[in-house]
Amino acid sequence: MTQSPFRISKAVIPAAGLGTRFLPATKATPKEMLPVVDKPAIQYVVEEAVGAGLTDVLMVTGRNKRPLEDHFDRNYELEEALLKKGDQDRLAKVQQSSDLATMHYVRQGDPRGLGHAVLCAAPHVGDQPFAVLLGDDLIDPRDPLLSRMVEVQEREGGSVIALMEVEPAQIGLYGCAAVEATVDSDVVKVTNLVEKPEPGEAPSNYAIIGRYVLDPAVFAILRETEPGRGGEIQLTDALQKLAMDEKVGGPVHGVVFKGRRYDTGDRGDYLRAIVRLACEREDLGPEFRAWLRSYVTEEM
Ligand code: UTP
Repeated sequence: MTQSPFRISKAVIPAAGLGTRFLPATKATPKEMLPVVDKPAIQYVVEEAVGAGLTDVLMVTGRNKRPLEDHFDRNYELEEALLKKGDQDRLAKVQQSSDLATMHYVRQGDPRGLGHAVLCAAPHVGDQPFAVLLGDDLIDPRDPLLSRMVEVQEREGGSVIALMEVEPAQIGLYGCAAVEATVDSDVVKVTNLVEKPEPGEAPSNYAIIGRYVLDPAVFAILRETEPGRGGEIQLTDALQKLAMDEKVGGPVHGVVFKGRRYDTGDRGDYLRAIVRLACEREDLGPEFRAWLRSYVTEEM
């Protein structure tokens, strides 16, 4: 067992995709800024990173990066106005996102795929393991995943990916992992990865979801990875090389996630995320649940 000599502190959040599934909302706004109840989706993701002890956050942005940067920065004008009104509650909400973490930004000129976005983080990350959180993948704050992945990486070394069991009919939409069991029921050893397998060719029902803790060896592999599916540099292709040759960057393990997760880049899942999180909010929940109950019984 290799013990990782580093305490993981850096998180990379790719948020430079085109968000075409959400047009026209994403014409001038990154999809990561779409609100889930009253917070942009990306704030949940940064809060998750911070909750797992990662306080240095690098966001990979594309065109329309301004709203992302502004959201995690101070807004003196607004703060001043709220202060004058004595509105402490809203002032705290405004300040919360700028006080969360040390934020850094790097620009991905062309959206050449998730692998390319991760490669843009190489100069900032340097030679230590780091986390990647996809900006449009929302893990319910009550179901911690990243902290468990960090724990497994620190114990086993190498890289750790997040896996979720999906229906066989759905696996073709995801990267899929071939796995072996380990002594921990929620941890598997990853032996191979296939991006969006054809029906009948999937090695398992384990889909890769948007959380990774990666060995920096992934950067050298990404530099040599040719564009794959859709002309994009796929992170899964680089992870496959890591999984198939432990000598390169240590083993690849998977943490099997059984909690609630929403792909906020998908319209249906985005709506489900809002309804679920709104129902469970102390301030909005009771009234919203009552309305929803009567809406479902009377209108549907
Ligand atoms: P997606 O494939 O879900 O993002 O990428 P997309 O391309 O924006 O979505 P659609 O299909 O057009 O609606 C997964 C994650 O990787 C980021 C995205 O921002 C998202 O968080 N990404 C993707 C990049 O940062 N750069 C890229 O070149 C591609």
